Amino acid sequence: MNELTNEIRRRRTFAIISHPDAGKTTLTEKLLLFGGAIHVAGAVKSNKIKKTAVSDWMEIEKQRGISVATSVMGFDYEEHKINILDTPGHQDFAEDTYRTLTAVDSVIIVIDTAKGVEAQTRKLMEVCRMRKTPVIVFVNKMDRDGKDPFDLLDELEQELHIHVRPLSWPIEMGSKFKGVYNIYEEKLDLYVPSKQVVTESIEFKDINNPDLENHIGSESSEKLRADLDLITGVYPQFDIDAYLAGDIAPVFFGSALNNFGVKELLDCFIRIAPFPRPVVATEKTVIPENDPFSGFIFKIHANMDPNHRSCIAFLKICSGKFERNTNYKHVRLDKMMKFSQATAFMAQKKETVDEAYAGDIIGLPDTGNFKIGDTLTAGENLHFKGLPSFSPELFKYIENADPMKTKQLNKGIDQLTDEGVAQLFINQYNGRKIIGTVGQLQFEVIQYRLLHEYGAQCRWESISLYKACWIESNSPEALENFKKRKYQYMAVDKQERDVFLADSNYMLQMAQQDFPDIKFHFSSEF
Ligand code: G4P
Repeated sequence: MNELTNEIRRRRTFAIISHPDAGKTTLTEKLLLFGGAIHVAGAVKSNKIKKTAVSDWMEIEKQRGISVATSVMGFDYEEHKINILDTPGHQDFAEDTYRTLTAVDSVIIVIDTAKGVEAQTRKLMEVCRMRKTPVIVFVNKMDRDGKDPFDLLDELEQELHIHVRPLSWPIEMGSKFKGVYNIYEEKLDLYVPSKQVVTESIEFKDINNPDLENHIGSESSEKLRADLDLITGVYPQFDIDAYLAGDIAPVFFGSALNNFGVKELLDCFIRIAPFPRPVVATEKTVIPENDPFSGFIFKIHANMDPNHRSCIAFLKICSGKFERNTNYKHVRLDKMMKFSQATAFMAQKKETVDEAYAGDIIGLPDTGNFKIGDTLTAGENLHFKGLPSFSPELFKYIENADPMKTKQLNKGIDQLTDEGVAQLFINQYNGRKIIGTVGQLQFEVIQYRLLHEYGAQCRWESISLYKACWIESNSPEALENFKKRKYQYMAVDKQERDVFLADSNYMLQMAQQDFPDIKFHFSSEF
């Protein structure tokens, strides 16, 4: 293997996703501890945004600003380079999370054993399923009483629509929690409630060995043996290819807070999780280790200082090697650019990067050159697929509140929507601009930023909309007919794609029923 291939294949780029409070921050911190990237517990600032009143979004943005530094945490563990991509904790920024998921090769989902599958996890899993992202589940907080593990597995299958396969199994839970049997490595891990100590695993290949009683007592031994029998009977053998294809999710149990079960998770993760995978572009499939440098922008983070309209554009490297001060092609602008100040993210610090490889994320200082989805290459014209927009959940008409500043307003709307703060639709019937978001907060973010960065004032007008669906049809006549019949409800997005604005679920269902030749999509890529 040459050096480049070696560098790329040792990379594991993933995101941890969860419903707020399930333990994402705690788990991230423990992973960093193992990587030696930090040395004490409590060093990772929670990216969780504390519950604040809506009008307090400035505070939230400040907290998000802090989280830029920890947006990507890279560290070395054994022979691997691990890149953890952090995702915002606040559900109003779910769109950010969706996009982050386009830049990872796999995902770890954290579930709270007492709460099971929660709303945000369900949504994020939809994105993973769509992209066939390999998923590992970590059931957290086993030191607390929770749901029966078998019930939880059923719930995971039903709610997340994925097959599961336990690779570790809890021995009791809550105050009686004794540890886990590591099915994957055939080891017994005994639990010591401590936030710093990692217990030594005991080789335990034969679970019927009477020595088990000496470790966990006869009652728990009996139960564990029965549980494991059931698991072998009900669940197929773990198949790594099925995991890599996104069809089956291995499940681990543990307690992140007590640093229990985390090392097992990490050790299995580095063995089974994928290294950077081929990425599909419109022109061809890009092979990380064969193709020259290429990458795409998946996130843009604005500097909240109104005096500096500067941003950081996050680039996921898809192939080859990035080098400092080298000319690369910004495909959309058809322009060569070089970067002397690109940053790499190592654990908690940002540092200027000289070189980075496929799988890595780098931050590029940006003064308005980049949009979400932009491609940088060594010279080729490539357009990466798989950066869809998702149907927003809230919609408002945006109106100009200061007629002298129309130009500024339009420019602001254009740039902020390029940055991915929200989506813009133009109603074809009345020509009005509609802003779609996943959370109430973004409306305030936009209003504030329009005023402070562009000197423009906007006013929101409510509009009753249920969903915006991207539509297509194999039959151009059917499409034209639909657009004519529904002209009041038709809009275009920024890329001029046709969008149907349904004002209720009923209306959408009727449209689907009445126009069988039209396909309705809830994300912009189909
Ligand atoms: P999040 O990033 O997913 O939102 O969750 P976070 O890690 O911040 O964890 C949420 C709460 O759950 C925290 O408590 C954390 O200490 C606790 N927690 C995480 N893992 C475990 C575990 O394995 N067992 C138990 N019992 N609790 C766990 P908090 O009181 O909200 O915050 P803090 O004051 O402890 O930081």
